[in-house]
Amino acid sequence: MKERKILIVLAAIVVIIYVGIEPLAHSALNPSVKPADFTMSDLQSNPANEAVVKAEREKVLLGIENGNVEAGRTVFIDSGCGSCHGINDARVANIAPPAAQRIDTYGLLPPDLSNVAAIYDEVFLASFIRDPENATLISNHAQVQKIAFDKQRASKGGDENLTAAYQKTLQGFDEKARDITRVKMSAYGWIEESQLYDLLAFFRNVSLPIEAISGEDITINACARCHTVDYRGIPLDGDEEQPGDPERVKEYLKTLPPDLSMIVKSKGKDYLATFINDPQKHLTGTLMPRVGLNKKAQEKVINYLEQVADPKKDERNRLGIYFIIYGAILSVLAYFWKRNEFEEIGK
Ligand code: HEC
Ligand code: HEC
Repeated sequence: MKERKILIVLAAIVVIIYVGIEPLAHSALNPSVKPADFTMSDLQSNPANEAVVKAEREKVLLGIENGNVEAGRTVFIDSGCGSCHGINDARVANIAPPAAQRIDTYGLLPPDLSNVAAIYDEVFLASFIRDPENATLISNHAQVQKIAFDKQRASKGGDENLTAAYQKTLQGFDEKARDITRVKMSAYGWIEESQLYDLLAFFRNVSLPIEAISGEDITINACARCHTVDYRGIPLDGDEEQPGDPERVKEYLKTLPPDLSMIVKSKGKDYLATFINDPQKHLTGTLMPRVGLNKKAQEKVINYLEQVADPKKDERNRLGIYFIIYGAILSVLAYFWKRNEFEEIGK
């Protein structure tokens, strides 16, 4: 009777911890956020209205579908994209300076554009080319900084109570915010809609299909200009001969982005799925950009990072079933052995 009471008390404690406290702690550490939004609805005129989002996406996709590849190639050449980015197209002269020189100029290597149509969401791309800061959500950084400054100002009782040094900081804020938030690519706000569609049609034309692009290649294109993947020997900018300089990246982003080798283990797959799609959801005001991966590309990146962090996972899963069979056979043998032994004791 006493044992049963102890068991009930223990079971009750376990249930309370498991159902009541654990999820609470979990949600406090990892507040739940909306699922990843691959429609990039915030880039449309009315994000809350699904029909509008859908219609506006379709308009862009149809525009690209009907875009003129030849005209797009001309837009690419005339806009000077090729002076910073490489592209795999024999009809475009390679005018980009060597990687080392570009890294020296921009602090990081502008990504190769050969497969952007397959890797990135095309509605995102259209928006990015016109206004990189808005599309990457980096503009949020300035707002968050400004709010923090304003709070400090209010807590000190207004401008007149601030020290001279602090006032100077505040005055310099707008310029500083511009400086730290500028994506190092000029906005092509002037580009006409039809030119934009032609350009994106050209990107579609040169791109490999997503199925033919590995998770590693996507990671190099979309992440390695800021992150390393040490376990696979991927240095900054993904360029072994001419890796980027961590100091320069830090200067640009105000912090050195973490190595991605073990990130799946430390953050979890679910976190990555929402974080990569919209970093601001988890780290409001962060300088990590939304790079605009489409769903398939994002899945490939996460699978790749999982492989890097846990290369034996598949093998373990394969072996698991054999282990269970082995355990089952052993249990049966143990059962008969026990029966046998007890029979003898009983005699
Ligand atoms: C002056 C150099 C320069 C020029 C010119 C330039 N870019 Fe870029 N571009 C960059 C840099 C630098 C980055 C990386 C910015 C970052 O990660 O903060 C970038 C990033 C990109 C990206 C990656 C976006 C993502 O998802 O993160 C695309 C796509 C792109 N550029 C397209 C273009 C196109 C198209 C043109 C021509 C219309 C162009 N760029 C012209 C420097 C340039
Ligand atoms: C333009 C630079 C840049 C690019 C490109 C970039 N990141 Fe980041 N990333 C950052 C910065 C900066 C941080 C640090 C964020 C912070 O602490 O606010 C970061 C942080 C992270 C983190 C840690 C988040 C956390 O909660 O601490 C993960 C995971 C991550 N990045 C994944 C990726 C992946 C995957 C890609 C490619 C799909 C990518 N990043 C592309 C700049 C970048």
